[in-house]
Amino acid sequence: EQHAERQRVLDALRLSREQLLEVKRRMEGEMKKGLARDTHESATVKMLPTYVQSTPDGSERGDFLALDLGGTNFRVLLVRVRSGKRRSVEMHNKIYAIPQEMMQGTGEELFDHIVHCIGDFLEYMGMKGASLPLGFTFSFPCHQTRLGEVSGILLKWTKGFKATGCEGEDVAVLLKDAIHRTEVSFDLDVVAVVNDTVGTMMTCGYEDHLCEVGLIVGTGTNACYMEEMRNVELVEGDEGLMCVNMEWGAFGDCGELDDFCTEFDRAVDECSTNPGKQRFEKMISGMYLGEIVRNVLLDFTAKGLLFRGKLSERLKTRGIFETKFLSQIESDRLALRQVRSILQHLGLISSTCDDSILVKEVCTVVARRAAQLCGAGLAAVVDKIRNNRGLQELSITVGVDGTLYKLHPHFSTVLKETLRDLAPQCTVTLVQSEDGSGKGAALITAVACRLKEGKK
Ligand code: BG6
Ligand code: GLC
Repeated sequence: EQHAERQRVLDALRLSREQLLEVKRRMEGEMKKGLARDTHESATVKMLPTYVQSTPDGSERGDFLALDLGGTNFRVLLVRVRSGKRRSVEMHNKIYAIPQEMMQGTGEELFDHIVHCIGDFLEYMGMKGASLPLGFTFSFPCHQTRLGEVSGILLKWTKGFKATGCEGEDVAVLLKDAIHRTEVSFDLDVVAVVNDTVGTMMTCGYEDHLCEVGLIVGTGTNACYMEEMRNVELVEGDEGLMCVNMEWGAFGDCGELDDFCTEFDRAVDECSTNPGKQRFEKMISGMYLGEIVRNVLLDFTAKGLLFRGKLSERLKTRGIFETKFLSQIESDRLALRQVRSILQHLGLISSTCDDSILVKEVCTVVARRAAQLCGAGLAAVVDKIRNNRGLQELSITVGVDGTLYKLHPHFSTVLKETLRDLAPQCTVTLVQSEDGSGKGAALITAVACRLKEGKK
């Protein structure tokens, strides 16, 4: 009886093949809408042109600073790129904390802090007065105009950031303003603003020329890929390719996922900093999966199916299930005893052996759905590339980054399984980025510098 009741709840979180195919179809539809001039405005998947028109070819070179903001870590990097026979990339970086108050305070505070960190980094590297071109990996949706004429206008914050006075502003200008305001002894030449998906595609593309897609499954989720210029209607010209930042996290914001959403998804959405927004992201990425799990556990407990029906204060606390716990709980090497000790560590003390089994099952179901949804999205992308080129079969590499993808024991397996099933005409190789997206941002900065020089 109890078992049937639990399974009934969990079944809502299980997606059939038909449902996943439908997700893929709707994603394809939204992609088309986002690319087309007449429908772009109303599309949920914004398909933002990045003005990046080629993957790296090894001729990039120079010394660059890079900033990497928007993931788990804020980093400042120095990247040295050598071309020709001694082609190589050398990187130094330092991680800085961004306190929650700053993510949600004023834009001035946030950008002053960033400038302060750059100053500290230059001193740490012994490069105090140096002025190097800077590539800014800024992992949020930005409207861009062209490479070499930097600008990245922040369309909206995502992933828990909500610093005031930034939306609608050019992030390169916000950075420059902060430099003047704080009267530091260095200047910055912001040459490129780059999304993390694009940085990751470039990082992987430096080693693998078939890499034409970038995927992030971390705090948030998103993808970019090389689209035919003729399909990128927002930009003049029909020749060649351009990288498009899909911003697929917003898929579902006009109800496209309503028939697959559960009450738990709605609860997570309602309690977030951006209700109604980033609905696909909230079913997939690290920032939200733990919250979905917690909401399911709350429901089970309230129905007397878990923790002997006792709702603890701990379980009512938002954010207790970090991504790393989800990954640990699902690790195959883990004995149930250890699952129990993780639960105890979370303060869920009264758990029995049966409780541990159930919690693990909830984690499995939620993570599996996330990987399948991500796979359905990616299937739409690779099949679009294949159709663009009129091919029966396509071999393609996807550069991937993000803590959920990297740490979770089963995410990538389920993702690959789903891709094989939903896009059988594509042979997809997933390559993990080892260097984050800072390296790719530096490569893009190198190209942008060359273009800028050329124009003078
Ligand atoms: C790396 C980056 O590529 O992956 C970050 O350098 C990016 O900028 C990140 O956002 C995504 O992972 P996470 O898990 O840190 O959000
Ligand atoms: C969010 C951001 C997007 C980013 C992704 C992964 O979806 O809007 O720009 O690429 O998170 O970090």
